[in-house]
This record gives sequence, C-alpha cells and structure tokens, in this order.
Amino acid sequence: MKIAVSGKGGVGKTTIASMLAYIFAKKGYKVTAIDCDPASNLPSALGVKSPRPLSELKELIEERVLGPMGLYKLNPKVDDVFELHSVKNSFGVRVLVLGTIEKGGEGCFCPENAFLRAVLRHAIFKEKDVLIMDMEAGIEHLGRGTAKGVDLLITVIEPGSRALETLEKIEKLAKDIGIEKIAVIVNKFIDNELSRNLIKKVKYPILGFIPFSECFIRADVENKPPYELCDTKIFEEIVEKIEVMLSESRSSSEKR
Ligand SMILES: Nc1ncnc2c1ncn2[C@@H]1O[C@H](COP(=O)(O)OP(=O)(O)OP(=O)(O)O)[C@@H](O)[C@H]1O
Ligand SMILES: [Mg+2]
Repeated sequence: MKIAVSGKGGVGKTTIASMLAYIFAKKGYKVTAIDCDPASNLPSALGVKSPRPLSELKELIEERVLGPMGLYKLNPKVDDVFELHSVKNSFGVRVLVLGTIEKGGEGCFCPENAFLRAVLRHAIFKEKDVLIMDMEAGIEHLGRGTAKGVDLLITVIEPGSRALETLEKIEKLAKDIGIEKIAVIVNKFIDNELSRNLIKKVKYPILGFIPFSECFIRADVENKPPYELCDTKIFEEIVEKIEVMLSESRSSSEKR
C-alpha cells in the first residue's frame, strides 16, 4: 500500500502520517515512512532522531547520478540507500528524509532531483508492504510516472473556508500527474453546523474525523510522538478503512 498524505500547511499531515505508520506497524506490516517535506519533522513524530536528508549526500548523489562525459543516468542505483540512510524506530518503522527538492519546473534536472525521484520511484515500485509519504502541500515533485504507483492520496483538510479550495487544487494536481484514488481525512474537527455543512460538499470518501484535541499540540510542544499521548482508536478505524478500500480496488483491477 503506497499512501501519500497531502494538504495545506499546518493541517496535520505529519501528525496523521506518523499515526498511520504507527498503526500499520502495530498490525504487523513492514512500514517505510518518507518525509518529503523539507520543512517537516516526521522523524520526531515517529520518535527518532532525524537521519541526514538524502539531498545533502552530495558525493553519493554525484557518484550515482553522473555518468560518463557528464551525462545523467536516468536510473541511478538507489536500493542500498534504504538501509544505509534511514533510521528505524522502536517498533520497526523505517524513516527516510528526502530533504530539499529543487522546484525548477519540468526543465530542472539537477542531480539531486534525479536522485530523489529515483528514491521515490524505488520506494513506490520496488518496495513491498506499506509506504507512507508525508508530502508538502504540493505533490508535483512525485512526477508523472512515479505518481501512478501511488495507491491512495489522502488529503487532510480542516473545517474552514479554504478546505474545499485546497481539495480542488489537490484534485487537479492529482489528475495532472495520474493519481486516481483520493480520500479525505478531516482533522481538527469541531462538531457544529458550520463544519457539517462544509463536509457535505466533499465529494471524496471521508476516512475519518479527528477531533480537535489538545493532546496533539502537547505532543508537538513536548516533541513527543502523538501516539504516546493521544488516543489511537480513530486512526485504527482509518487504517481498517484504507485496507478495505485498497483491497477492493486491487481485486477490481485484477478482474479487469
Ligand atoms: N486534531 C488536532 N487537534 C489539535 N491540534 C492538532 C491536531 N492535529 C494536528 N494538530 C497540531 O497542529 C499543528 C500542525 O500539525 P502538523 O505538523 O501535523 O501539520 P502539517 O500539515 O504536517 O504541517 P506542515 O505543513 O507545517 O508540515 C501541530 O502543532 C499539531 O500538534
Ligand atoms: Mg508536516
């Protein structure tokens, strides 16, 4: 199951990505979590010290990406990166940090980007079990070919006037790069009429409503993983829904 978690800044992507990784790992899956947001803190949300961001491994990147006569290799070797440059947390989740991806548009083909894209491609197409990617608001840097391997794009929204706007933007991006399955998690939910009316307009499956809770903020302030301080029940239900959703889509694509 290859899952990307996206949404606008501060909605709770990292909190949710870490909780999902926790639950999947507790259920016995082999989980890899990739921090794809340069400004993020997924490792600390998973209780580990951050490994060195891959984008900073300049020598390795040059060695792997640059071919003879200064030409770039389209498929640099990256498989060993998963063991050598990741850290494992106490319950076995492997954590990698991508670092900064240059956003130079289609034309930017610097060695770092070629390398990081190859890492994502490898994670999505060659690794088994569960992959959770904590994305920044945009998902463009997945690139077209790679995005096709993403089984589910979870968009996190919080009830507010901009939630649907974000969703539309992400829907467009997802379509552009070829991700088919989108689901929503409503975070920081406060059950009132305003929120309920807004939620009615969401046209994607909603995996769950996570209440606004002070425990998440405390976890952040105390730099502790949220699963140590917060109730995990809602996340267990969300993981069950994801399992059902993805097994259904797998069996229907096998029938086709
Ligand atoms: N359900 C919730 N209730 C209350 N606070 C929450 C909830 N979920 C997340 N938060 C808090 O909101 C803040 C942002 O959460 P988080 O870092 O997970 O968001 P993000 O989308 O990853 O942010 P960024 O875009 O900066 O990476 C944190 O302080 C977090 O503790
Ligand atoms: Mg984050």
